[in-house]
Amino acid sequence: MSDAPIRVLFVCLGNICRSPTAEGVFRHVVTAAGLAARFDIDSAGTGSWHVGEPPDARAAAAAQRRGIRLSGRARQLRREDLRTFHYVLAMDAENLRTIERLRDAAASAQIRLFREFDPAAGDGLDVPDPYYGGPDGFETVLDIVERAALGLLEHIRREHAL
Ligand code: 4NP
Repeated sequence: MSDAPIRVLFVCLGNICRSPTAEGVFRHVVTAAGLAARFDIDSAGTGSWHVGEPPDARAAAAAQRRGIRLSGRARQLRREDLRTFHYVLAMDAENLRTIERLRDAAASAQIRLFREFDPAAGDGLDVPDPYYGGPDGFETVLDIVERAALGLLEHIRREHAL
């Protein structure tokens, strides 16, 4: 199909744990749905500490156990991303506030909390940061991200009649 790809960007703080996990899982579900050619999927961090680094080894190992490969190198979110991506998904409320501060009149992306698409989310819409915690944190992130990725794909399929 010749349609321009639907561009989806996942954003967390460091771009080494949560957002690369969301990127890998979302790519996996999009591929399973036969829609890989319709999407351009990426991730970024609001912070710059880890720029150039691969995904956190603990996050990559946890994803690998579920058959999902994490890829890419950390990069920092830039204002232009809010013009060139169609959907920008923040992992937590702090990330969302930082994204909102970068937003200008030219920003055209739908900017949302990723967990708005997690049907099992209660009042808490944050994907908890696993960086300073134990191994369970990475499993929790994957459980959340797997549900939210399916919900997000449903949302986009409705909006684009896919
Ligand atoms: P992420 O996790 O935002 O899910 O990539 C973090 C990674 C690094 C740091 C914080 C969170 N850090 O403070 O270095």
